[in-house]
Amino acid sequence: MKPIEISKGIYSVGVIDWNVRDFHGYSVEGTSYNSFLIVDKKIALIDTVKKEFAGQLIDNISQIVDPQKIDYVISNHTEMDHSGALPHVMHVIGEDKPVYCSKMGLKNLPLHYHKKLNYQPVDNGGELNLGDKTLTFLETRMLHWPDSMFTYLKEDGILFSSDAFGQHYAGYEMFDDVIGHVIMPYAKKYFANILLLFSPSIIKLIEHVTKLGLKINMICPDHGIIWRKDPQKIVNAYAAWSNQETKKKALVIYDTMWQSTQNMAEAISKGLSSEGIDVVPMNIRKWHRSDIMTEVLDAKAIIVGSPTLNNGLFPTICDILTYIKGLKPKNKIGAAFGSYGWSGEAVSLINKELESMKIELIDSGITVQYVPDKSKLDDCFNWGKKIAKAILG
Ligand code: FEO
Repeated sequence: MKPIEISKGIYSVGVIDWNVRDFHGYSVEGTSYNSFLIVDKKIALIDTVKKEFAGQLIDNISQIVDPQKIDYVISNHTEMDHSGALPHVMHVIGEDKPVYCSKMGLKNLPLHYHKKLNYQPVDNGGELNLGDKTLTFLETRMLHWPDSMFTYLKEDGILFSSDAFGQHYAGYEMFDDVIGHVIMPYAKKYFANILLLFSPSIIKLIEHVTKLGLKINMICPDHGIIWRKDPQKIVNAYAAWSNQETKKKALVIYDTMWQSTQNMAEAISKGLSSEGIDVVPMNIRKWHRSDIMTEVLDAKAIIVGSPTLNNGLFPTICDILTYIKGLKPKNKIGAAFGSYGWSGEAVSLINKELESMKIELIDSGITVQYVPDKSKLDDCFNWGKKIAKAILG
């Protein structure tokens, strides 16, 4: 990606990672690691990139200024997709140059790089003057790491928002007005898989920023496109997602051994659909957990099915339940189903997991021994209708 001037004296100098497909367990089709160079009387670099792209970052900066002329580095976030290139950048620009970070960044950066750098912790609301431009630091602890912060450029109304408002998207389109609405599913997936569990803090942050009355002309996240035409659009989407508003939608997430649980899932899905519910049947072996999580975001009902295997759950079902639980979805109802041969523990184990996630159980569950016949499949269909009625309230 060639550096481009996104506003007078402000350059996007990050890189595109076309080939990444697994981002610590989240399925992606590439992403970008954004980094921003502000050229004023003093020159500042906001965030770096993943370690393997350090050379590309330096090349990009070199097309604008001699990297050794950078006066300050701002680290909005310690996670290694944004700080991995920091040691190399500091080696190139001079290791005595200040690295501004949050107080938690001061703790976390040395735990990653074990190197003495000139870390300068900043206060929430602290400022750094570059000449004509002023940076203000806004602590955003636990959005999504303890060290996370935003940097706000007052004169231009630009919010450098670290991971928030980002998307794992790889493409040459750099702005919301260029790419259009197709970026929203990427932003939704990012929110569902990275930020959902911090929804209460996001609601407070949006209220806080609104109260501050910050003029925001542009939001520059560390992944994906820049919001310049309508930054409020992504802020509004975050407000809705954080409030965890749900639709009349049910997910039927299952695994199967000999198609019995799958046949149950299909009958249950038909029952739900017959009542006008938007149903997404999800065979766990065909869906990546991060895509399931994206659907969880606005679903009202989470219906989970597993055969009983060795007196327990199928391991794939444990995987998805653990993943969903960690992201703390709210305002959901749920139920369990599954086939079994002789012991049949799966449904009660799923119920326990759903309850531990504070998902309201609307039924004790439905089971079939071995293979469902027509009458059992009719029961599943009617059970789906019962869940649909609970969704419709
Ligand atoms: Fe994109 Fe939390 O790192």
